[in-house]
Amino acid sequence: MTLKQEIDKRKTFAIISHPDAGKTTLTEKFLLFGGAIQVAGAVKSNKIRKTSTSDFMEIEKQRGISVATSVMAFEYKDKRINILDTPGHKDFAEDTYRTLTAVDSVIVVVDSVKGVEEQTKRLVEVCRMRNTPVIIFINKMDREGKDPFDLIEEIDGTLHIQTQPLTWPINQGSLFKGVYNLYKKELNLFESNKSQLADEVISIESLHGEQILKYLSEKDTKKLRDDVELIEGVFEPFDKELYQSGLLAPVFFGSAINNFGIQELLETFLDIAPSPRSREAAERMVSADENKLSGFVFKIHANLDPNHRDRIAFMRVCSGKFERNTFYYHTRTGKKLKFANPATFMANEKILTSEAYPGDVIGLYDSGNFKIGDTLTEGENLHFKGIPSFSPEIFKELENRDPMKTKQLEKGINQLSEEGVAQLFKQEPGNRKIIGTVGDLQFEVIQFRLEHEYGAKCAFIPLKFFKAFWITCPDKKILETFMIRKSYAIVRDKENNPVFLAESEWNVTLSKNDYPEIIFHTISEFDVAHSTHSTSSG
Ligand code: G4P
Repeated sequence: MTLKQEIDKRKTFAIISHPDAGKTTLTEKFLLFGGAIQVAGAVKSNKIRKTSTSDFMEIEKQRGISVATSVMAFEYKDKRINILDTPGHKDFAEDTYRTLTAVDSVIVVVDSVKGVEEQTKRLVEVCRMRNTPVIIFINKMDREGKDPFDLIEEIDGTLHIQTQPLTWPINQGSLFKGVYNLYKKELNLFESNKSQLADEVISIESLHGEQILKYLSEKDTKKLRDDVELIEGVFEPFDKELYQSGLLAPVFFGSAINNFGIQELLETFLDIAPSPRSREAAERMVSADENKLSGFVFKIHANLDPNHRDRIAFMRVCSGKFERNTFYYHTRTGKKLKFANPATFMANEKILTSEAYPGDVIGLYDSGNFKIGDTLTEGENLHFKGIPSFSPEIFKELENRDPMKTKQLEKGINQLSEEGVAQLFKQEPGNRKIIGTVGDLQFEVIQFRLEHEYGAKCAFIPLKFFKAFWITCPDKKILETFMIRKSYAIVRDKENNPVFLAESEWNVTLSKNDYPEIIFHTISEFDVAHSTHSTSSG
């Protein structure tokens, strides 16, 4: 197969949702379709349960298992599908944001009863920043949910994305009859059945003919005809280009647990979702079909065994072909590295691989060479963009509780921040270390790992800050003045960029008014940010 054929064959995406909307169930049904797993429940057992928030060991154990499910690859109808798993737990939201940098599209699961929830909003916002194409799956149609027109309006309004239904439900809850596929003009009748795999699909020539009455009551037929007339009056024919540019999100309705609407979702996804495309590096655009390898690390997973410090770095291949036992150039350090045991992930298994293509994710055993965001090439000096840090929400000062182990603490916290467990900020004078996270769980993780892997003891002192802003200003003098005036709240990130830690929304507004020349960025990579994001405080 040529490189171009390998690329066209691949679809790399993530399924995202607010916890409980049905992400795990949908992932599992996709894997069942692909024949990658034989029984339901295989993915479920690997998921980090949201109930066990304080049971850290349990979570770490599950994170360990989750290495294998970080990427789930399978073949379906000549396509190679790479599903990148994202942790559902909100405290691991940063992991999810980073994973989104490695996909070519996403499927967003929305619960028909609950509608758009908080985490969905934040995740879609991250997708919109990078124009990642989005498909929406409205799940749990077997339950009494919100009115579908209201749901569409709610999604448009809260996710700030233009939507277009491609299927339309016939009732819901106990009266749910199925969906009408507006795109293919087919009727898909619902049967509550958790073990069925393929849907029973009926081609309908015209909704106004008699044929439909064989399957639906007069009342349901009338309602469907009215709804479809309304929808067709509002929407233009579906435009794949708009979807692929991230401007239009097609919407599907179904019930993951009943395996209903999944096949048409998967098949339409394969039909319209983009294969790996060009990616922007700081130096130039890198096209997927270039012969030379390039790729970047978006996730690092520590080995849970304290006797083995090695970690697994997950690299997304962006161009060319990756080969085992071949030297590649690590652009940050200038080192040449080769990998004897690169792994790919098929469903629940980790497999030694000898080659990988754009869109694939490989696991590289690492003894400390990689940081999140690192690029590998065949010699060219490239640095892929689009792996920003997002503002943490909880800030605590790291306190050393064993002065004899200062070095270990220093090394440990640096490595953990390179892995992306938390963000480390430093403040002068005194080299104060401030840890920023999106959830409390990370502090438990850090404390535990510093003690067990590095032999260092620490405590955390809560700080009143609520958000971090990376600050820039065309006028260096103004920036300096601001930094002196606010020195108690100025820290440096791992790249030594100045960051302002704000105590409240009001505090930010005041600073913005007093220093209108200064730009307050909520993410660390400014030029990828949408202008409204780059300066917003929320
Ligand atoms: P998540 O990964 O997004 O957190 O969601 P998950 O798939 O775990 O689904 C959350 C709950 O919703 C599960 O129930 C699951 O069975 C249920 N669910 C998923 N799809 C549907 C659907 O189409 N209809 C209905 N009615 N329920 C659905 P649970 O009680 O939390 O877990 P379990 O005991 O079923 O495993």
